[in-house]
Amino acid sequence: MSDICKNWTQWLQKTRFAHMNEEQIQQTFRWLFAIRDVVISKADIKKADKIIDIGCGSGLLGFGVIEKFKDDVEIIFSDKFEDCLEECKKLLGKCDVKYKASFLQSDCLDIKLPDCSVDKAMTRSVLVHIVDKQKAINEICRILKKGGIYSAFEPIIKSNTRYHELTNPDEITDWQTFKEAEDEFMSDMNDPLVNFDAQSIANNLDLAGFSDGDVDVCDTPSTYIATKNSIKQWFMSAPSPDRPTSKERFLKYFDEEKVNNYIEEMQNALHNKMITVNSKTVFIRATK
Ligand SMILES: C[S@@+](CC[C@H](N)C(=O)[O-])C[C@H]1O[C@@H](n2cnc3c(N)ncnc32)[C@H](O)[C@@H]1O
Repeated sequence: MSDICKNWTQWLQKTRFAHMNEEQIQQTFRWLFAIRDVVISKADIKKADKIIDIGCGSGLLGFGVIEKFKDDVEIIFSDKFEDCLEECKKLLGKCDVKYKASFLQSDCLDIKLPDCSVDKAMTRSVLVHIVDKQKAINEICRILKKGGIYSAFEPIIKSNTRYHELTNPDEITDWQTFKEAEDEFMSDMNDPLVNFDAQSIANNLDLAGFSDGDVDVCDTPSTYIATKNSIKQWFMSAPSPDRPTSKERFLKYFDEEKVNNYIEEMQNALHNKMITVNSKTVFIRATK
């Protein structure tokens, strides 16, 4: 694992943007802020609410709440990893006003809060990193008060456009076997990134005891001109600090020479071509 990918803070600040130019980074931030606003709005926050941002990272949701509701509400920044909470503390220290904020280092599979103790719980791209999503959603339900709301956003990575869909079998050596490998690792039930979809999340909400779990599916097509470099980054970017890159995933099936050749042929087939890739995501809203 490269140095850049040592922990979540570094991943959030650097690794996830490594393959992007400045314009793409700004576009990503606009997209993240738009998501943040929807998650916060669906949480239906009221004065004096106690709200938890679970897997807060650098506090996208928590600081969004502070920006909108100032000290009318109480916010708990919670993450499994200390570096994330340190980052949020640092950012909060830069604010002039004193807010009702606290920090909780806790695994979302075992949240260190009593039953029925918060009004609202929010996550963004956290469940996607948890193998046992049912257990995490049970915990979220447990800590919510009766009538409390869970609002979240998650990417459904298993439904994203796959590499092989962008090329034809006659452009790529062993296209079919690479397709089969990709299909297999994109449906690995032990891989948190791909072991779920909108329906399984809806089932998780029901089983946890939420009364009106709603999972709103969005398709976001993105059309752009691929370059050799952008294609290389698809294979080299780590999806999180602790998960393998796509290249590493293919290396479980083929030797390095074959994988390098596959990447090179993909680069040659797609360089300077206009491509459209689709990302599927969900907004989750559920009341206890
Ligand atoms: C993709 S980041 C999202 C961060 C933040 N929610 C945001 O919207 O920018 C995933 C976050 O989940 C946290 N995380 C991963 N596993 C966790 C776990 N088991 N319990 C709690 N947080 C976890 C990571 O530390 C990281 O901050």
